[in-house]
Amino acid sequence: MDLLIRPARKRDTNKFSEIYYSEFSKLDRNWTRQTSRARIRQAIRTYPSLCFAMELDGKIVGFVLAEHLDFAKGKYIYLADVAVSSKFQRRGLGEKALRFLFSVAKARGYKSIYLNAIRKGPVLKLYKKLGFRQTKYVHMEKALYLIEVVCS
Ligand SMILES: CC(C)(COP(=O)(O)OP(=O)(O)OC[C@H]1O[C@@H](n2cnc3c(N)ncnc32)[C@H](O)[C@@H]1OP(=O)(O)O)[C@@H](O)C(=O)NCCC(=O)NCCS
Repeated sequence: MDLLIRPARKRDTNKFSEIYYSEFSKLDRNWTRQTSRARIRQAIRTYPSLCFAMELDGKIVGFVLAEHLDFAKGKYIYLADVAVSSKFQRRGLGEKALRFLFSVAKARGYKSIYLNAIRKGPVLKLYKKLGFRQTKYVHMEKALYLIEVVCS
């Protein structure tokens, strides 16, 4: 079976959303079908030239979503999401798609690529294999729906 990596199209939204929901809801239960779809629509609409579909014999089996970022040190690419449908995992598809993204980004003049990763699942192994290293930055979050008690 031949892998085709091609630019994402708006009509890929349904298939990407299905894969997104089935793969990411295993890692983080906060994802719903609706939020998965919204995430995909936003990525394809905002950075169509940095989103790619993985196709095996005409069937979409995964995707890579990236974004352009102007960062302190120049033109950066942000790897937002990568997913391969469970049935097709462990066949080298995720790695091939990411290597494809790196070569496209390099050809377009990007200096570096960075990402936030979930500690759950095998993805850190994949990123380490591809040469990603932890940076001096830390990913943080503050819940805004909690009421703060201010002591005087
Ligand atoms: C992460 C993901 C995209 C990997 O896709 P994949 O096509 O299965 O990965 P590959 O077959 O290309 O694997 C490449 C390398 O990644 C690592 N890897 C991938 N899956 C692994 C697993 N289940 N266990 C251990 N290592 C794994 C290995 O180092 C592997 O290299 P090797 O085959 O030489 O050992 C896929 O598991 C997935 O969609 N996961 C759910 C979504 C997700 O976590 N996305 C990232 C969010 S930050």
